[in-house]
Amino acid sequence: MAIFKFDYIELDNDKGLTSSDYHLLSEARRITEGAYAPYSNFKVGAAVLLKNGEIVLGVNIENASYPVGICAERSALSSAISQFPEEEIEAIAISYLASKGENDKPAFPCGMCRQFISECEDKNQKPIRLILAAQNGKVILLETSKNLLPFSFTGADLG
Ligand code: THU
Repeated sequence: MAIFKFDYIELDNDKGLTSSDYHLLSEARRITEGAYAPYSNFKVGAAVLLKNGEIVLGVNIENASYPVGICAERSALSSAISQFPEEEIEAIAISYLASKGENDKPAFPCGMCRQFISECEDKNQKPIRLILAAQNGKVILLETSKNLLPFSFTGADLG
């Protein structure tokens, strides 16, 4: 029997974060307001930290033709890679602002974003740390998106 398991950190609130992680999460929280989510009213913000210290932001952008919309994670990472193609990505903070329901539980990236972040890690040749939190409440810290996507399909599979 093989077992897949991984370590992650769960904090009761943002007080235990390093100042760098706190700042990144604050940026993700702040940018949620600007998301274009008229259909779901579920606004997501992502903040990508690069090795050079730059922070690149992204939000979810929905579309009347629903599948055309893009998640905040892919929006932020696409922007980061477009602007700084050679720069290493260190971390991504993801937050949201829901018009209904609770706003104090971390939300995890969707499956498509897990695949996307995983490929960014391969490009990066380095894991990308994830910082997940709503506007308040618990914070989850993960060392790599690959912990959320075991047995992923990668470029290596294409030969
Ligand atoms: N959404 C994200 O931006 N990131 C995720 O990881 C999950 C979902 C967006 C997509 C859509 O605009 C809205 O949240 C509701 O699904």
